Amino acid sequence: MSSIDFTALQEFVFSQKMTPDNTVHGIDHWTQVESNALLLSRHTGADETVIRLFSIFHDSRRFDDGYDSEHGPRAAEFLMQIRGDVFVLDDARFDLLYHACYYHTKEHSSGDKTIDTCYDADRLDLGRVGIQPKPEKMATAIGQKIVKKAKDVPLSEMRQWLNKLTL
Ligand SMILES: [Fe+2]
Ligand SMILES: [Fe+2]
Repeated sequence: MSSIDFTALQEFVFSQKMTPDNTVHGIDHWTQVESNALLLSRHTGADETVIRLFSIFHDSRRFDDGYDSEHGPRAAEFLMQIRGDVFVLDDARFDLLYHACYYHTKEHSSGDKTIDTCYDADRLDLGRVGIQPKPEKMATAIGQKIVKKAKDVPLSEMRQWLNKLTL
């Protein structure tokens, strides 16, 4: 089990956020990514601490809600800056978290079950911005399966559908 206080950590990271609004990449998105990641991890065996931290950090250093191609590397740099002060994590998990945050918009899949679970958890919430996730864009087999099952789900109902999904 992790000794990290995720609620307090989320509050801290949100307080440090670089964009003022909380719409497309705010707490609702972070929470949905966490929920998606926990669903996926039942099949992928991803590390729960890393996927929960990814949910909190991966979009925390955006300058805006547009493309902002370098927000992943900035999130990774932020992790380096506050590690040890705000949260403690062993080297093996930190390396996975750093990679997942750094490359989450740049890499299709990594071959690591925890990193790939982070990527797919983020992709499963694309419905919020009007994008239907595509099976070929997913990094995990279970992510592909979910996207195929979701093909007829209206994007406006995707979060509710995912949150009720049992696999
Ligand atoms: Fe992102
Ligand atoms: Fe995201």
